Amino acid sequence: MVIQTSDPIGIFDSGVGGLTVAAAVKQLLPDHPIVYFGDTAHLPYGDKSPEAILHYSKKITDFLVQHNCKIILAACNTVSAAVWDDLSSYTYARQALPVNVIDPVAEQVGRQYPDSAIGVIGTKNTIRSGAYPLKIKSIAPKARVSSLATPLLAPMIEEGFVYDDISNAIIKTYLSGRALRDIDILILGCTHYPIIRNQILEYYNYRVEVVDSAKIVASHLCTIIKSENLPGRVYSGNADKFFISDHTDYFEKIAETFFEKKIVLEKIDLWK
Ligand code: DGL
Repeated sequence: MVIQTSDPIGIFDSGVGGLTVAAAVKQLLPDHPIVYFGDTAHLPYGDKSPEAILHYSKKITDFLVQHNCKIILAACNTVSAAVWDDLSSYTYARQALPVNVIDPVAEQVGRQYPDSAIGVIGTKNTIRSGAYPLKIKSIAPKARVSSLATPLLAPMIEEGFVYDDISNAIIKTYLSGRALRDIDILILGCTHYPIIRNQILEYYNYRVEVVDSAKIVASHLCTIIKSENLPGRVYSGNADKFFISDHTDYFEKIAETFFEKKIVLEKIDLWK
């Protein structure tokens, strides 16, 4: 597989969540164009069957490969947890390098906090897979890992309910339960959740370390790109592209907040 400096990095998620990772990637790799796909027509992925998630992810992978993406980052924990073996072989077979968001975060947290009580929140699929506890315990056998599915959070964020009474009440209901009692560290195991990271920190009165997964994934991607010997290339104009499978007002707003500029969204139906 030969990756050129000018090849864009493909990034996808079910919706706005992957933008948290895309923005972190842009900060570390400003000279690499990105192609982003938000599958807003099929959101949320969190409680879909693995068959459906694989079907959507393969189509998106094909689309990103057609856009010359040689690295494809599944900026979605649900995809990374529920269908990773199948999707990564599919991606390799199309001469692209698959990257997921769970491995780098679990590895870093396991190494950094080997004796801690670690909580993980995510979609039903992500939590059901046990991917985070398995990976963390393989690196840090003494760590205590507890997980909680928080399925309302991604649709809540996608609908723009953030930093208000509704989201405060939902966050409190989830985080105050028994499952996450006495944790020292919290992993946001869904790429939507960094959008409410400050709300979560406030809930805990800043006493729990809330891991910034987007930053960890972006620096992992940086390491991959450096090891492939791909220094950035100054490109003229705006080479980043943003696609969605259905229009939502909030997507545009949040994309512009993250990238601090006007974002042109192209709607495209890959499944017709
Ligand atoms: N942002 C995604 C994740 O990291 C998916 C949320 C959803 O679509 O349910 O899991």
